[in-house]
Amino acid sequence: MNVIVVNNYDRMSEEVAKLVRGQITEKPDSVLGLPTGGTPVGVYGLLVEMGKRGLDFSRVTTFNLDEYVGLAGDHPQSYRYYMQTNLFSGVNIKAANTFVPNGVASDLDAECEAYEKRIKQAGGIDLQLLGIGTNAHIGFNEPGAEFGTMTRVVDLTESTIEANSRFFASRAEVPTKAISMGMKSIMQAKNIILLANGGGKAEAIRAAVLGPVTVDVPASVLQLHPSVTVVVDQAAASKL
Ligand code: PGA
Repeated sequence: MNVIVVNNYDRMSEEVAKLVRGQITEKPDSVLGLPTGGTPVGVYGLLVEMGKRGLDFSRVTTFNLDEYVGLAGDHPQSYRYYMQTNLFSGVNIKAANTFVPNGVASDLDAECEAYEKRIKQAGGIDLQLLGIGTNAHIGFNEPGAEFGTMTRVVDLTESTIEANSRFFASRAEVPTKAISMGMKSIMQAKNIILLANGGGKAEAIRAAVLGPVTVDVPASVLQLHPSVTVVVDQAAASKL
């Protein structure tokens, strides 16, 4: 793992946005794997600015890591909505090239299977961006998720529901299930960037980077991947 420690959130966002720009410049038809959450908002803002200055997304394809079960794409807390707002509406990406699991599909298992197929058909993910949960989850692969898992329906843990309740009017409104790319789907990406900021992520980052590789710390699986860059601010790196 290549660990890059930067001063603060803005530097983290700049570093990651530059790496994404490098990927798209080198391979204009890149396939990107994308996260949601608070952490990558700055990265997406910078990519929109880069798009205005000419970075071309017209041949880029994206696959999001996850989506809440039960939320349609026009629900303000759905991840489809988040992506439209934070990135897709601001760059020249083709709508047909943006994939987010459909959390209201009538057959969720078929949706998961089709999602994996679409990733394969696109040629696999060139660059996967990842956030990390305070419990070290990646995507919605919570502690205990087997390394062989592919895209599937998962139950969210209490700590994740609690962490995400800040975006909802009440805790009762937070979905308890999601569709998530699996541990193996993530590990099949050619290159991976894990980004984190703030002291709340310090323990998860320590366990992921320095701890044993174990299903109890989902992000620790990344130690087994040949091309991972971890971009963290000083607070998130404080236990390294
Ligand atoms: P956050 O979420 O960016 O909102 O902290 C990260 C995650 O849960 O993967």
